[in-house]
Amino acid sequence: MRYRELGRTGWKVSEISFGAWAIGGTWGEVDDQESLAALHRAVDLGVNFFDTADVYGLGRSERLMARLRKERKETLYITTKAGRRLEPHTPEGYNKANLTHFVEDSLRNLETDCIDLLQLHCPPPVLLYRPEVFGILDDLVRAGKIRYYGVSVETVEEALKSIEYPGVETIQIIFNMFRHRPAELFFPEAQRRRVGILARVPLASGLLSGRMTRQTPFAADDHRRFNRQGEAFDRGETFSGVDYEVGLEAVEILKGLVPPGFTLAQLALRWILMFDAVTCAIPGAKRAAQVEENVRASDLPPLSNALMAKVREVYDSRIRELVHQRW
Ligand SMILES: NC(=O)c1ccc[n+]([C@@H]2O[C@H](COP(=O)([O-])OP(=O)(O)OC[C@H]3O[C@@H](n4cnc5c(N)ncnc54)[C@H](OP(=O)(O)O)[C@@H]3O)[C@@H](O)[C@H]2O)c1
Repeated sequence: MRYRELGRTGWKVSEISFGAWAIGGTWGEVDDQESLAALHRAVDLGVNFFDTADVYGLGRSERLMARLRKERKETLYITTKAGRRLEPHTPEGYNKANLTHFVEDSLRNLETDCIDLLQLHCPPPVLLYRPEVFGILDDLVRAGKIRYYGVSVETVEEALKSIEYPGVETIQIIFNMFRHRPAELFFPEAQRRRVGILARVPLASGLLSGRMTRQTPFAADDHRRFNRQGEAFDRGETFSGVDYEVGLEAVEILKGLVPPGFTLAQLALRWILMFDAVTCAIPGAKRAAQVEENVRASDLPPLSNALMAKVREVYDSRIRELVHQRW
């Protein structure tokens, strides 16, 4: 495992880290023992950074993180998120009372007295024009409740706006072989300001593992069944916003580009790591075997320019029109 510096925090985090949404819920049934085994395997293999949120199984994912921390002696960085428990999800909801309440709940679930990194969880874009919200986060830092804060965003424009606030240490954004635009404008600017980048949905919800077909069954409570058109939350979070059938066709072409010794999932993750601005990819995983496959991407050789260009061609010809100007 290789490590990269996370923005200005001074932390060295595993370039393949762990996304803990699926082990909380909304991805079909999960078993806590199996999830814990996956988390332990990740730590065994050098993963030291975990991305969760208060809404993932309403504390279930956070509580698994607390258990993991108790059972391991390695230094682990755990980032959580706040805001999505607001109903309705309005900018007004991001006030001092609510944010403090969410943070206190996460502290309890995580069994800690200070959150390593708190991210606003894809807030309404207008919130980014309310500096007082970032003032509340600064107060939470001063109070010792959170060490650092960042923003998880949907769009490049939200990312660019967020990093105008000097206290924002990290941006979490969708970036993968089906989502190239963040690398154009946002990455250079984030690098210039030394802001950490967490690349989420790196496998396009598993599509880029190459193991899905038209017949793959998805449970009723799996967002890959109920959110394909953005029925429940932003469409971009499910298969990276790419129509499932179109995605499967593009994956067939990508399979022909996989170098010897790689799997398609590893190509997808290694592709992300080719961008220096990225601090880490945070693939979700429910099972130890998935973690093993994903983590190995860090030790694989860099991709050639020719291969990078071919991936780009697949994006340009099959995917770009569907996503490029949407996020
Ligand atoms: N708004 C936000 O802030 C936000 C939104 C989305 C995600 N995130 C974060 O980003 C993380 C990553 O994104 P994601 O989980 O949505 O998508 P992802 O990482 O692209 O896909 C994860 C899913 O792919 C499958 N998978 C993983 N490794 C695999 C492998 N080696 N072979 C085959 N299948 C594999 C697993 O599902 P199956 O086994 O069921 O197929 C897994 O749950 C999340 O866990 C979460 O921490 C944040």
